[in-house]
Amino acid sequence: MSILVTGGAGYIGSHTVVELIGAGYSTVVVDNLCNSSPECLKRVEELTGQKIKFYEADIRDRKAMDRIFEENSIDSVIHFAGLKAVGESTQKPIEYYDNNIGGTLTLVESMRAHGVKNIVFSSSATVYGSPAFVPITEECPKGVCTNPYGWTKSMLEQILTDVQKADNEWNVILLRYFNPIGAHKSGRIGENPNGIPNNLMPYITQVAVGKLEHLNVFGNDYKTHDGTGVRDYIHVVDLAIGHVKAIEKLKENPGTKVYNLGTGNGYSVLDIVSAFEKANGVKIPYVIGPRRPGDIDECYADASKAKKELGWTAQYGIEDMCRDSWKWQSQNPNGFEK
Ligand code: NAD
Ligand code: UFG
Repeated sequence: MSILVTGGAGYIGSHTVVELIGAGYSTVVVDNLCNSSPECLKRVEELTGQKIKFYEADIRDRKAMDRIFEENSIDSVIHFAGLKAVGESTQKPIEYYDNNIGGTLTLVESMRAHGVKNIVFSSSATVYGSPAFVPITEECPKGVCTNPYGWTKSMLEQILTDVQKADNEWNVILLRYFNPIGAHKSGRIGENPNGIPNNLMPYITQVAVGKLEHLNVFGNDYKTHDGTGVRDYIHVVDLAIGHVKAIEKLKENPGTKVYNLGTGNGYSVLDIVSAFEKANGVKIPYVIGPRRPGDIDECYADASKAKKELGWTAQYGIEDMCRDSWKWQSQNPNGFEK
C-alpha cells in the first residue's frame, strides 16, 4: 500500500516524502511541476536511496488521476498540490480557485471512484484571518481571509469536512501550518521560490547570498515587542514529520480532525534577522518600510492538541531553522538550477 503525495516535488512535499520513506512508507508522487523541478525528486532519491514513483500530471486531469489510482495500490493521500503565492492570488483569483478548488474536487472524485477515502490536507494558519486570540488554538474561530489564496484553504477545509459528513468512511485530517522555513540538514533540498521571494526567510537568504541588496522590513508599528510582525516559524522537517504522525492517526476513528502545526513560539522580523546573523555569522542589512497590505500583528500557535493527539511536537529551534535555510541557499544559490 502506498501514500499518494500530490505536490510531492514542492518544498514541503519533498521533505515529507523523505520522512515518509524514512518511516517505512512507500510513496507515489504526482506533480505538474508548475512550481517545482524534477531535480528536486532526483535529490530525494539520492537522500533516501530509493527510486521515487513519479507522475508528471495535473490533479485537475481526471484521466491522469484515475490512471494513478488504477496503477497503484493507494491507501491514503497527502494533498499538497496547489498555488500558494498570496499576492499573485489577488491578481489571478480565477486561476487560484480553478487550480486549488477545482484540483481538489477532481482529486477527491477520483479517490472516491477508487475507494480511497483517507486524506491529509495542507491548510494554513491563514484561515484564522486576523486571529481572535493568540496563541491560536483550533477552537479559535475561522476568520475573514485577506486574499483568494487564503479563501481557497478556508473553502477546501469546508469542502472536505462536508465530504466526510456525507460519507463517514472518509477520514480527513486538516493540518494548519504556521510559517514553514528551513531545509533538509543535507542542504540538498529546500525552498526554491520563483523570482523575488515574497516570504521572509527566502528573502533573507537571498540577501545573505548577495542576490538582493537588503531586506525591506514591512512596518515597525505593529503591536508587538519591537513593532515588527510576529510569526510562528516552524522547521520544514518538523512539519514533514507532522504528516507522518497524521498518517498514523488518520484511520484511528473516522471523522474530520484539525491540527495546528507550529512551535508555539512567536518571533518578530527583527528577531529572525538577529537569529540568522548569529547562527550563520552573516550580516543582513535591512531598511524599515511601510506595512504590507493584509499583514497582521502576530500569529502563533497553541500546538498542544497535536502534541496530545498526534504525539507530535516540533523538535527544531530557530537557530536550526536559520542554519539549515542558509546551508540550502549557500550551497544552491540558484535553487535547483545548475
Ligand atoms: P510548493 O509550491 O513548493 O509545492 C506545491 C507543489 O504543487 C508544487 O510542486 C507545484 O508544482 C504543485 N502543483 C500546484 N498545482 C498543481 C496541480 N494543479 N497539479 C499538480 N501539481 C500541482 O509549495 P509548498 O510551500 O510546498 O506548499 C505545499 C502546500 O502547503 C500548498 O498547498 C500550500 O498552499 C500549503 N501551505 C504552504 C505554506 C508555506 O508557507 N509554504 C503555508 C501554509 C500552507
Ligand atoms: N516580511 C518582511 N519583509 C519581507 C517579507 C516578509 O518584513 O520581505 C514580514 C511580514 O510582514 C511578516 C513576516 O515577515 O510580518 C512573515 O511574512 P511571510 O510573507 O514570510 O509570511 P506570512 O506570515 O505573511 O504568510 C505565510 C505564508 C502564507 C500562510 C501564512 C500563515 O506565506 O501562505 O504564513 O501560515 F498562509
